[in-house]
Amino acid sequence: MSDKHQTPENTKGENTKEVKAFFEKWDTYRKAMDNDYAGHIEAYKALGDFLKTNIDKPFSIFDLGCGNAEFMAQSLKNTLIQRYEAVDISESVLELAEKNMSHLNCEKYFFPGDFINVIHNRETSFDVIWIGLSFHHLSYRQKEKLLERCSSLLTKGGYFIIFDPVSYDNETLENFRKRWWNTCHLYWNALTHEEKLSIKEHVDSADFPESLSTYKGIGGKYGFSEVESVFIDPTEIYQIIYFQKT
Ligand SMILES: C[S@@+](CC[C@H](N)C(=O)[O-])C[C@H]1O[C@@H](n2cnc3c(N)ncnc32)[C@H](O)[C@@H]1O
Repeated sequence: MSDKHQTPENTKGENTKEVKAFFEKWDTYRKAMDNDYAGHIEAYKALGDFLKTNIDKPFSIFDLGCGNAEFMAQSLKNTLIQRYEAVDISESVLELAEKNMSHLNCEKYFFPGDFINVIHNRETSFDVIWIGLSFHHLSYRQKEKLLERCSSLLTKGGYFIIFDPVSYDNETLENFRKRWWNTCHLYWNALTHEEKLSIKEHVDSADFPESLSTYKGIGGKYGFSEVESVFIDPTEIYQIIYFQKT
């Protein structure tokens, strides 16, 4: 996709300090997950179904920004997972991930740090690279660079998969954020008003979603023959999109 998508709105790049501080208040995020406000339950079920249907040999997965990996542990049950690797910028959250993954019978590795640095320094190949609810924190250029790097690390036919807020075609960032806030404000009622406002502040400063058409354009540029959505939550904010390497 051409640089016309690189608007001043999404050139800023991730403020990792802000993002780290926000997710270290894990309880608020956890309430949103447990109440399925981002479609976590169905999304991670869709991921499990995707892995079972599309991968018929032992596989490896790299989980970027794994959080507590609670839902990922469910998705990987009854799949042919052979090696699970995960990275998160928050060490406290990474400890939870290790606990939640303890029952999974495969090789496991956990790395603290910024996934952009970690992935640029890795040489090991992966069959799947997954990024759940973090890709939208990156600028347009950072997203492109990460896709390019993942394309070179993935095995032939492998998948880069995102679970992320996705904007409509031609939707401005401002309109996307308004649409997100309408949903949060009206429906995320297990959260207090202050908790909603704290998430809003995070979204207003750190969220830069793109549209499926934009992802198809970037994917084509970096060797992904197929870019499709396999899950859309009922509020039409969150989607799972896979990029298959040619
Ligand atoms: C919204 S949570 C998602 C957790 C999990 N992937 C999920 O789907 O539930 C985002 C996680 O990504 C981590 N994160 C955000 N930016 C990161 C970065 N640049 N490097 C490593 N971890 C990052 C945060 O610390 C947080 O744990």
